[in-house]
Amino acid sequence: MRATITLLPGDGIGPEIMAEAEALLDVLARQHGHTFEFHRRLIGGAAIDALGQPLPSGTLAACRQSDAILLGAVGGPKWDDPDASIRPEQGLLQLRQGLGLYANLRPVKPHPSLHDASPVRAERLHDVDLVVVRELTGGLYFGRKLEFRDTAEDVCRYTRVEIERVVRRAAYLARTRRGRLTLVDKANVLATSRLWRSVTRELVKREFPDITLETLLVDAAAMHLISRPAHFDVIVTENLFGDILTDEASMLTGSLGLLPSASLGDDGPGLYEPIHGSAPDLAGHDRANPFAMCLSVAMMLEQSLGLVEEARRVDAAVRECIDNGETTFDLGGPLGTRAAAAAVRKRLAGSMADGALEGPVHHPDRAPLAAARVS
Ligand code: IPM
Ligand code: MG
Repeated sequence: MRATITLLPGDGIGPEIMAEAEALLDVLARQHGHTFEFHRRLIGGAAIDALGQPLPSGTLAACRQSDAILLGAVGGPKWDDPDASIRPEQGLLQLRQGLGLYANLRPVKPHPSLHDASPVRAERLHDVDLVVVRELTGGLYFGRKLEFRDTAEDVCRYTRVEIERVVRRAAYLARTRRGRLTLVDKANVLATSRLWRSVTRELVKREFPDITLETLLVDAAAMHLISRPAHFDVIVTENLFGDILTDEASMLTGSLGLLPSASLGDDGPGLYEPIHGSAPDLAGHDRANPFAMCLSVAMMLEQSLGLVEEARRVDAAVRECIDNGETTFDLGGPLGTRAAAAAVRKRLAGSMADGALEGPVHHPDRAPLAAARVS
């Protein structure tokens, strides 16, 4: 197949992991006879430095014209001045909003060989397989903001339509998995949460009578994610709660450097990025974990390009590296960014030589996430 992919390396470790994503895609293109056309564009601090704005119009236009978008990370101490009116993070937020990417899928599935790398006890990690569906274009992130010397304000606003579309996507996903949907909110305090609750209950009753809906307050959810993570199947929640809970949930896998994500709208290209940030302390030292980026590439292959088998092979290659200790320092391994990513590519080459591509393409493994694409 032919596909146009916009690459947005961004800041910090972004360019390092993006280089590895590109190399990975090159290997797959060669092995499977695809043509991936890459368009590299600026975003975040790098774009502020070059063009004075975090999301240049050329970047947004290139994204709109592509089949999928890969993003590294944005932000860093260089642009951290609290008084600055232009910030790298605005580039990412404008991109999410500009492309209407309202549903952010963050799967969390700890690898058995990494159970000891998690601060959570290993016996609690068996059977953990959850996806957080985070609302991505509303709530406190996008409400009106006021900043004075001694007062500041962030407005949290949600509409029925905004809630329905993301809950519908999460419910579809739950239907293809274990059929449990958990709405996380703060309905005992927040008016927006009460709207989330009533809209979600109505929608699930009307359109998804076959799935089980439960509601959980966000403070309790933070605790349950640690005390009984295997309970969860699909969690749906508003923007800020989703941001916080997914950093927490990443520790079930042993490292923030392992979690990929997909940001999807109703049509147009999806955006794929690791959930970790720009990690300025690691930047330039060949220390960043490239696996969250490799797994984001896998999500992109499957969900935006429909390349299910290629996605499965990338997932398997990363899993094999983890099983064999070919990991970066955050997982206790000896490898740098480049060597860990090279190990993934080597395993891809190996699996090809073993004839792993023979026989029928098989989908069931990844069906749940594929089904998250609501047509
Ligand atoms: C994330 C990040 C972003 C967010 C930042 C960089 C704006 O933390 O994708 O989780 O808060 O959404
Ligand atoms: Mg975050």
